[in-house]
Amino acid sequence: MSFWNRRRGAPAAELLPVHVGIIMDGNGRWAKRRGLPRKEGHRQGAKTFRKIAEYASQIGIRYLTVYAFSTENWKRPKEEVDSIMQLLREYLREIERYAEENVRLRFLGDRSALDADIRELMERAEAGSRNHTGMTLNIAINYGGRDELTRAVKSLAQSCIKGELSPVDIDYAQIAARLDTAGQPDPDLIIRPSGEQRISNFLICQSAYAEFLYMKVLWPDFTPRHFDRALWMYSRRSRRFGGLSA
Ligand code: IPE
Ligand code: IPE
Ligand code: MG
Repeated sequence: MSFWNRRRGAPAAELLPVHVGIIMDGNGRWAKRRGLPRKEGHRQGAKTFRKIAEYASQIGIRYLTVYAFSTENWKRPKEEVDSIMQLLREYLREIERYAEENVRLRFLGDRSALDADIRELMERAEAGSRNHTGMTLNIAINYGGRDELTRAVKSLAQSCIKGELSPVDIDYAQIAARLDTAGQPDPDLIIRPSGEQRISNFLICQSAYAEFLYMKVLWPDFTPRHFDRALWMYSRRSRRFGGLSA
């Protein structure tokens, strides 16, 4: 927090979002503009991800959720999907070596479709960082908000069949407890670089009252300065949650 507070014009700590979501978009266009294959855009995007995660943790963000691969991204050519999975593998192997980082790592999404070695690395990363007290970093991979909701509904139905829960007692808290983000606060701010202005199946339940910020910069070019700007814009928003301003 101290780093942020030293910056001239920075918003007060209480105006910082607790949970920030980022739709890491624009890797393909970044590569195309340079005449490079799309996988080079993903490689550069992975570097940006490391930098921004470190920065967010340093300035006191408590939860950061990044959208890395959606349930719809399987529609892309196999070569591109493989290159994204390979980058994930490299990241997971790397963090095993730097386990002293105080970040608590979690993965959102359906893992059953991922390769067994990736699933194991994910489990090890989660188990190894479970007791860390710093920022929670959620990586959404094979994640889709509709898929997440569908899995939650199936789990509710099972509980009803087993007699643990009566359908009349189902409320949003019961649903939220079965989402991949169970126990975590909802995102306050969702940033989408690359100029697209849509949610693309990211945290659709959790973002009910999130502030959205769309930025033109492509994800591989996104820097801590862009993150600062997003936080600043967030601090100027008036959140009402359906009520009236103070
Ligand atoms: C985001 O970049 C990364 C993933 C969706 C995996 P894109 O690959 O979507 O980049 P654009 O949108 O084509 O530029
Ligand atoms: C959203 O980006 C998914 C990720 C960034 C992982 P997409 O590039 O897949 O979204 P659309 O197709 O533009 O909506
Ligand atoms: Mg895209």
